Formats: sequence, structure tokens, C-alpha cells
Amino acid sequence: MDALMLAKDVVLVELVKVIPDDVKNLEESEVRLIAYTTAVVLVLTWLWSFLNHKKSLWQRLKDFSFGFLRSLPIVNGYVKSELDKILTDLTKEDAFRTHKGEVFTTRLPASGLGRKQVVSRATEMDELLGGADWKKGRCSGTVYFNSEELSETLCEVYSKFAWSNPLHADVFPSIRKMEGEVVQMVVEMFHGPENACGAMTSGGTESILMACRAYRQIGYERGIAVPEIVAPFSAHAAFDKACEYFHMKLVHVALDEQSRQVDIRAMRKAITSSTVLLVGSAPQFPHGVIDDIEAIAALGRQYSVGVHVDACLGGFLIPFMEEAGFPLPLFDFRVTGVTSISADTHKYGFAPKGSSVILYASHDLRHRQYFVAPDWQGGIYASPSIAGSRAGGIIAACWAAMMFMGQDGYVTSTKKIVTTARYMKESLSDVPGIFIYGDPNVSVIALGSNDFDIYRLGAALGKRGWNLNTLQFPASIHICCTLRHTDGGVGEAFVTDVKECTAEIMKSPRAKSTGSAAIYGMAQSIPDRSLVKEIAWGFLDTCLNAKH
Ligand SMILES: *Cc1c(COP(=O)(O)O)cnc(C)c1O
Ligand SMILES: *[C@@H]1O[C@H](CO)[C@@H](O)[C@H](O)[C@H]1NC(C)=O
Repeated sequence: MDALMLAKDVVLVELVKVIPDDVKNLEESEVRLIAYTTAVVLVLTWLWSFLNHKKSLWQRLKDFSFGFLRSLPIVNGYVKSELDKILTDLTKEDAFRTHKGEVFTTRLPASGLGRKQVVSRATEMDELLGGADWKKGRCSGTVYFNSEELSETLCEVYSKFAWSNPLHADVFPSIRKMEGEVVQMVVEMFHGPENACGAMTSGGTESILMACRAYRQIGYERGIAVPEIVAPFSAHAAFDKACEYFHMKLVHVALDEQSRQVDIRAMRKAITSSTVLLVGSAPQFPHGVIDDIEAIAALGRQYSVGVHVDACLGGFLIPFMEEAGFPLPLFDFRVTGVTSISADTHKYGFAPKGSSVILYASHDLRHRQYFVAPDWQGGIYASPSIAGSRAGGIIAACWAAMMFMGQDGYVTSTKKIVTTARYMKESLSDVPGIFIYGDPNVSVIALGSNDFDIYRLGAALGKRGWNLNTLQFPASIHICCTLRHTDGGVGEAFVTDVKECTAEIMKSPRAKSTGSAAIYGMAQSIPDRSLVKEIAWGFLDTCLNAKH
């Protein structure tokens, strides 16, 4: 109330300064009325923006408290030294491996090396530094295909189009045609309606960013100041990125504990008049589970909001699963209410990295992802997605991968991959000490444990050459099966190693984790998430430095 009185006085004084003489003749009671009204409006406006913030009240309170603590020199000094220790540990990891006597290039060679030397230097770097053995199927996801012939085909086609750029459609009409064909082939895969359309992007993240941007424009047109996206906690971080980039609010919804699908009732509750988009994944990255797309689409229809299906991961598996003998509940444009779908060609489409497709149910929606600068001095500038110039060679290689594989090729790869994943699921479903999250139907199997720190299993498998993904909230590790795991014996070797490592750990389930397993566990328990951000910045800094 004091604040209100103060505001009133300030407003009164200010009013008297600016109002002309005849207005000064107003009765005092009238002035008071104006002043009160103004003060109340000011306070209400402030209250409105305070409550309708992108961050929750609780989050802002936490940020403020941690910020205050960090401003104390003692705390800050301690935190800094702890962060440095963690970073030092992190940089001992494989990514920063060097070899004896290694020279770092930090300046342009004074004179160009020429073809032979450049190629030999690159080859040497690859051989000396090595890495996890993805060729032998030791990595989760990462490299999805296993055919030398496909690889050579892609490189041959790329080399013909290495200099092309779809920004100049007039110069490279073939690239324009290839992009259109890639998009249309994916439209067909997902049973797009008459008006369905899309665009190629540089990857799943950009596809998602573009969709979110399109829905944000619709929100703006409806007069929503901060449009909201309602997405499961399991949805890809690209949605967080989109909201940060495009000034939207992300409302996360809990998962059903058992199925790991998004909780539909919680999703309904999270919808507000500012909601522009509901998200479902097919499947989601952490546990490989497909959300109940039909139920999400029903909400979309009921509340007249868009529904995006993130099929970035599964985009070149799920459309072929029925034909491969693994029928699924509906997940694509056949479900009324689904308005956009993202599918990554650079994952199970077996195209090289740097390509993905975003599909829309209508041209109206696609227009809202476009950018046009009609008045630029450099000419009327129009580009469909984030990039200006784009890699035509990558589009050509993506087109080549799809033409190389064909419907039958993808059905076969899907059959092999899902068969291997199902085999792993069956074999690991009753290993004492671990469990599988939900009932994953596609290619990802996530493991957890009620008996020990599951990151220890990840570390133990790491010692045997396996490179799995580490997940948090809840702690888990997962393997994403690719064609590489379908090669003879790889799936079996994985199952054997998981069983043996788990049995070993179960001898002392309460033992402490070490190394990166410990870092991950600790990172999950830090209440001030801005510290985790700082650690991640440090990691990225180290990645981007030539010298360590
Ligand atoms: C891979 C993936 C994405 C996007 O990732 P990019 O690395 O940008 O291609 C989005 N959603 C899911 C479920 C994914 O697996
Ligand atoms: C997995 O597939 C089966 C068979 O189509 C289906 O009944 C089940 O609902 C699916 N589970 C999930 C989580 O999608």
C-alpha cells in the first residue's frame, strides 16, 4: 500500500507540472481522482507484466537469489574454482585428445600447401586422432548408414554440385528442382493433403526453429504478445532454442511415468489463450517413445491451435514401419489436426549431415516461415529459412541418397534397424539391476536403474568401446540403433556387454561414480542451472579453441 501512496504522490506532482493553467483550476478532488486512476493503471500494468513473464515467478525468485549469492566475493571465488576443476576434468575427455608432438595450425600457411599435402594432412589428422569406433557400430546414433556404395554415390554427386547455391535459382535450376523433389517425396511419405508443402533446412534444429517461427507469426496476427508453445519435457531442446531466439514462451508438460508419452491431461491443462502450438514427438529422443499423436491432434482441433509432430529422428523409419512388418498407431497428416512435421534426411534418410525437411499442411503456414526484405539495396531479398546462401551440394547429396535408397531400400533398412532394436529390447528387459524406460517401438532403447547410478554403466560400456548418449531427469543412458548395429554380431555384442557390465556393477551397487559419470550426476543436482550453463560455455570454448 505504501508503494501505491508513493506512486500517487509522484503522479500528482508530475501532473501539476505538465498540465496547462485552465486545467489547474480543476477541483482538488478531481485531480485526485485522475491521479488515483493513473496510479492504479500504472500498478496494474506493472503487475500484468510481472505475472505474464516468460519465466515463472518461482524461477525469477530463484534466479534472483542465486544471483545475489554469486555477487558475494567468497561464494563467487569458491564457485569459480569449482567450475574450473570441472572444466579441467572435462577437457581430459576423448574429444580433446591430442597426440605427442602435435602441431596446431593457428595461422594461414605462408604459402598454400597444394592438393597432395592438404589431403595427406587431413588423412593424417583423422588417423592420428581417431575417435570412437563408429565404423564398427560402437556409437549410439551419430552415423546412420553402412554402405560404401551409397557413400561413394553421395560424394560423386556432391562433387558435381559443390559450388551450387539455391539462393541463385536462375544459375542452378537443377538444385531448385532437386530441393522441390526431396520435399515432395517426403510430403508423400507422410501422406500430406492436397495443399501440403515444405522446405529443406540445414537440420532438425532449423526445421523446428522454422515451424515455431511460423506459429509465432500466427500468434502475432491473433494479437498474442508472447505466443506459447506447449511441449512435453521429452521434446527436443530445439524447441527451447526456438523460444529463446524468437521470444516465445515454452510451457513444458510432464510425461506419463510408465509409458513416457506426454500426459494428455496435463497438456490440456497447459493450454491457454496464448497457446499457438502443441508438440508431439515420433519418437522423442530421450526414450524413443512415440507420443500419442492422435490425442494431441484432438486437442489441437478442439482449441484451434497448431500441432507439430517432431519426426526428426524417426522421419525415415516410421513411414516405412508398416510395410516392414511393424505397424504403428497413426502419426502423420492422416491425423486431422496435425499441421506440420519435421523429418531429418540426415539421420535415417542416410543423407550427409546438413539436411532436413520441414512440412506444412498448408501454404499459409509455410509463408509464415519465409523472410522477405522488400527494400534492401541489394535487391528484393527473399529466403525461405534462416540461412541466406545454402549448400546446394548437400541438397544434391540428400536427393541422391533418397533416389539411391528408394521405397524398397528404406523398407529394408527400417526392417533391419527395428528388428535389431526389438532384439535389444527383449534381451535387456529382464536383466537384474536395470530397466527400460517405457515401451520404445522404434530404434532407441533407454536404460535406467533403481539399484545403482546408471551413469556407471555408461562409463563401464565406454571402457569397452561403446559410446552411448547420457540423459538426465531421470538419469539414464540410451542407444540409438542404426544400420551399423545391424551388421553381424554388433547387437549381440552390445547385449552381452550390457549384461556383463551390469552384473559387475551389481556386485557393489552403492559405489561412487567417477570421471564424467560423476560430473553428469553432479550437474543434475546443481540447483542453480546458470552454473551448468557456465560449465557448458567453458566446454564450448574449449571445443572452439585450436590450442589447449
Ligand atoms: C535429432 C533430433 C532433432 C534435431 O536435431 P539436429 O541435430 O538439429 O538435426 C530434433 N528432434 C529429435 C527428436 C531429434 O532426434
Ligand atoms: C507400439 O506399437 C504397438 C503396435 O502397433 C501399439 O499397440 C503401441 O501402442 C505402440 N506403443 C507406443 C508407445 O507407441
